[in-house]
Amino acid sequence: CVRMLRLACSTALLFVLRLFAGLPWLQVLPSIVIFFLVYVTISFLHLRERNTIPKLFAKSVKKYGDKTALIFEGTGEKWSFKELDDYSNRVANLLLQRGFTEGDVIALFMENHSQYVGLWLGMAKIGVEAALINFNLRLEALVHCVNISSARAVVFGSELTDAMCEVHSSMGKTVKLLCAGEWDPKRVPEGTEHLEPLLEATSTNQPRQPDRSFTVFSSILLDRLFYIYTSGTTGMPKAAIVVHSRYYRMAALVYYGFRMKPEDVLYDCLPLYHSAGNIVGVGQCLIHGMTAVIRKKFSASKFWDDCIKYNCTIVQYIGEICRYLLNQPKKDTEHQHKVRMALGNGLRQSIWEEFTTRFNVPQIAEFYGATECNCSLGNFDNKTGACGFNSRILPFFYPIRLVKVDEETMELIRGPDGVCIPCGPGEPGQLVGRIIQNDPLRRFDGYVNQSASNKKVAQDVFKKGDSAYLSGDVLVMDDYGYMYFKDRTGDTFRWKGENVSTTEVEGTLSRLLDMKDVVENGVEVPGAEGKAGMAAIADPDRSTDLAKFSRDLEKALPPYARPVFLRFLPEVNKTGTFKFQKTDMRREGFDPNVISDKLYFLDCTKGQYVELNVELHRSIVSGKQKL
Ligand SMILES: *[C@@H]1O[C@H](CO)[C@@H](O)[C@H](O)[C@H]1NC(C)=O
Ligand SMILES: *[C@@H]1O[C@H](CO)[C@@H](O)[C@H](O)[C@H]1NC(C)=O
Ligand SMILES: *[C@@H]1O[C@H](CO)[C@@H](O)[C@H](O)[C@H]1NC(C)=O
Ligand SMILES: *[C@@H]1O[C@H](CO)[C@@H](O)[C@H](O)[C@H]1NC(C)=O
Ligand SMILES: *[C@@H]1O[C@H](CO)[C@@H](O)[C@H](O)[C@H]1NC(C)=O
Ligand SMILES: *[C@@H]1O[C@H](CO)[C@@H](O)[C@H](O)[C@H]1NC(C)=O
Ligand SMILES: *[C@@H]1O[C@H](CO)[C@@H](O)[C@H](O)[C@H]1NC(C)=O
Ligand SMILES: *[C@@H]1O[C@H](CO)[C@@H](O)[C@H](O)[C@H]1NC(C)=O
Repeated sequence: CVRMLRLACSTALLFVLRLFAGLPWLQVLPSIVIFFLVYVTISFLHLRERNTIPKLFAKSVKKYGDKTALIFEGTGEKWSFKELDDYSNRVANLLLQRGFTEGDVIALFMENHSQYVGLWLGMAKIGVEAALINFNLRLEALVHCVNISSARAVVFGSELTDAMCEVHSSMGKTVKLLCAGEWDPKRVPEGTEHLEPLLEATSTNQPRQPDRSFTVFSSILLDRLFYIYTSGTTGMPKAAIVVHSRYYRMAALVYYGFRMKPEDVLYDCLPLYHSAGNIVGVGQCLIHGMTAVIRKKFSASKFWDDCIKYNCTIVQYIGEICRYLLNQPKKDTEHQHKVRMALGNGLRQSIWEEFTTRFNVPQIAEFYGATECNCSLGNFDNKTGACGFNSRILPFFYPIRLVKVDEETMELIRGPDGVCIPCGPGEPGQLVGRIIQNDPLRRFDGYVNQSASNKKVAQDVFKKGDSAYLSGDVLVMDDYGYMYFKDRTGDTFRWKGENVSTTEVEGTLSRLLDMKDVVENGVEVPGAEGKAGMAAIADPDRSTDLAKFSRDLEKALPPYARPVFLRFLPEVNKTGTFKFQKTDMRREGFDPNVISDKLYFLDCTKGQYVELNVELHRSIVSGKQKL
């Protein structure tokens, strides 16, 4: 049926194309065909597979049984599909015994990866939803994330015992704690139980599964698989809902789009609390039977050696990773591997070709798509620098679009009729995707926080009366329809591969500094990917103790969110509505030749702030000073 449809579509397509003969579209014929086939295939597979992830995984177990599913680099442990299945069954049975039922939430806070997948999968088997918490979070942000998920329990890794102890008292008394890994009853918060002995005493039988196959019209509530936290564009982390169908779709899009095979071995060194590592990566194992090599932390020096050791054929990256790899000294192993494809997002055009030639990686499988996004794109035909393609002659087929935004205020620009204005080739614009709520393929599942969801949705975008998801990213399209990533809009920026929410940083700094006014910006540093955080602090009487501030900061924020630059000034400018005016500061950057205020730089080798003078500035700009 799918094949028939493909044929019919291609024929229709060729006919349409003939009408356009002589136009540049013809040059992108292969792209259009691939684009079309990929999305048609996915739609069909999706409708056919009205299954939950545990059910799809059960099929993989049946088919691949003793094949290695996961390899944990570090311990070297290997789990077959059967073993992963048994482990997750134990988890499910244990939770059932403890009275957890469908719809309950359990927070997962672990650094080590060995049991991570088995834990959330086991929960999913009985309809318990995991809240995947970023293990870098501490204090307020950690409490906030657990709190907004309404988790009834937290499973934490023993390596995070200290972080757990710090927040234990601010968490609800009814929240159960389970500790995985090394057991030290003296260190863990009171009432904590040790997970492993409990699991060992539990049966590996298939648990009774709730009957909730997802269907086209089933409600979102019944489909929830887990929550992934995003910083989005404002405030504290938000819990984005991942439903079974979205998990499937994200994994399947890259699997079919980039023509992967079950025999591929995938190297996944991205954090599993994010969609890239846990869905795009691990999903290939659970759903498509691939072996996934999971590494706790990315290591630039071990990267290619690992690939050789495990015969990896596909590696995952985020933009930063590629740059770190290029910064490594050359060695033989970097092109003796069997890697045929690098899969990820954020690879800059400026290092694209250097990356493929130096490391001998034939294809870059760059894709674009936020966890909660309504507009996924993929560079399915190996086009240098692009993160996707959207056929400009079939815009109705995949309703995404770039629309004009005011680059200062980041507001959508609308025409006289009140509808957004689409961008032409070469014009940067915000990527938006039309929302069609009752079509599961075009649905926006949103955040746990309803009012946060509403902020990501705009009305009258394609035409009057419709609604669309705002990606928050600025892209540029070329004449043919290839899309290139440009920047994020709004007040979140990327640094070291993570999203930094300026609002969140401002809030934390302000608290540490006796509620002084703090304005955080991302500033560009030549040669560095993303933007470095720069905090402007209003300190008229110069009362800040920098040494104490650095110590407090280390406890309160993960490394990537700590401001790289500080600027002390008598007062920050505010608007009439008491909003900070950021644009001037963003423009002035961190140049002591321009700014007369006192500037400081976070020297990461010393772990403290040092005064930023003209000489240090020069060494930062030239790339000599490590950031
Ligand atoms: C947790 O959430 C409840 C309401 O759901 C709220 O009353 C409480 O203040 C929150 N606690 C923290 C520490 O945010
Ligand atoms: C995580 O790894 C560390 C060593 O890297 C180990 O001490 C700890 O027990 C591990 N925790 C779990 C939950 O496996
Ligand atoms: C990698 O491939 C080689 C030869 O094809 C094989 O001998 C070796 O066992 C494989 N290694 C792993 C970890 O699968
Ligand atoms: C992708 O493009 C690069 C350069 O344009 C080329 O060297 C490489 O062979 C292509 N890879 C595939 C799989 O077609
Ligand atoms: C950052 O935000 C974007 C868009 O919301 C999302 O696609 C990406 O996964 C986020 N990355 C991290 C590291 O949180
Ligand atoms: C809209 O939403 C769904 C996810 O909810 C996504 O799969 C789809 O690709 C999005 N974009 C478009 C243009 O429909
Ligand atoms: C929900 O989102 C709104 C707007 O983003 C925010 O003001 C509110 O504090 C959020 N509520 C919670 C419980 O996080
Ligand atoms: C504050 O506003 C004044 C007047 O518009 C401007 O001259 C000054 O540069 C601004 N200060 C900062 C730190 O942006």
